[in-house]
Amino acid sequence: MQQSSIQKLSTRHLLGIKDLSVQDIELIFETADTFKDVLNRPIKKVPSLRDITIANIFFENSTRTRLSFELAQKRLSADVVNFAASSSSVSKGETLIDTVNNILSMKVDMVVMRHPYPGAGIFLSRHINAQIVNAGDGAHEHPTQALLDAFSIREKYGDVAGKKIAIIGDILHSRVALSNILCLQKLGAEVMVCGPTTLIPKYIGSLGVKVEHNLVKALNWCDVANMLRIQLERQDIKYFPSLREYSMLYGLNKKILDSLDKEITIMHPGPINRGVEITSDVADSKQSIILDQVENGVAIRMAVLYLLAGQVN
Ligand code: CP
Repeated sequence: MQQSSIQKLSTRHLLGIKDLSVQDIELIFETADTFKDVLNRPIKKVPSLRDITIANIFFENSTRTRLSFELAQKRLSADVVNFAASSSSVSKGETLIDTVNNILSMKVDMVVMRHPYPGAGIFLSRHINAQIVNAGDGAHEHPTQALLDAFSIREKYGDVAGKKIAIIGDILHSRVALSNILCLQKLGAEVMVCGPTTLIPKYIGSLGVKVEHNLVKALNWCDVANMLRIQLERQDIKYFPSLREYSMLYGLNKKILDSLDKEITIMHPGPINRGVEITSDVADSKQSIILDQVENGVAIRMAVLYLLAGQVN
């Protein structure tokens, strides 16, 4: 692909799904289709971003997102530097803006950032002169996860429009839930959230989603169940009596899956807590597309980086 001939996104940064139009999302998917073909070739690399330097700065732990962004950047021939807050001068008191400006002084064009505080990417975009990609900001948004999730549903069913998606688990502390709701609704899907009352935010009705507290009813309604982890690291009080009780009421096992009237698709953004929100026989079943989601993450992130880089040329 020639950068000069590509269609453009309506945004310079990717801070959240709320900033993307339907046309932006469709353009990202079409571009990801092309990159998925590239990734299935013996030579998985293209020279598209060979003039671009990208810094991955992670203030929170990550396996999938960090590796997936780094692989996407390397497949596009970008120069890549990685920064983990735990082994940096942040531990000596350096601020976020000082940290990033120091990295940018080394002629970095784009920053991919994960941060525990909601809005950290938005804040940064107002204070530094580089493109920002939000790789997850607290319990706010995780836009590339939502894009790869919707892309995986499109791959499975041919279209997202008209599909019924149940997002099940700890909605209150989940950036994946909010970004998925916004993305799926833009693409014409119906969305339901399911979990204990204490883990469903009070404002959720204003987003136009259905709310269900009974797991089996949610599963019988949906085409796709996206199972979320309990985010104990973001919980400073107890939201339910015990993980055992949560698992008994909201854990998806093979017996429940096999009792449903139809065959549904199982998704999970990872990391999985096997035996809590999902049992191994479900996570590893033929109805699960969990590893397809991870595979699609590289193509989606290649598409996002490629299209954003085209904004500044
Ligand atoms: N899905 C996801 O964001 O996983 P990581 O925390 O491992 O990046």
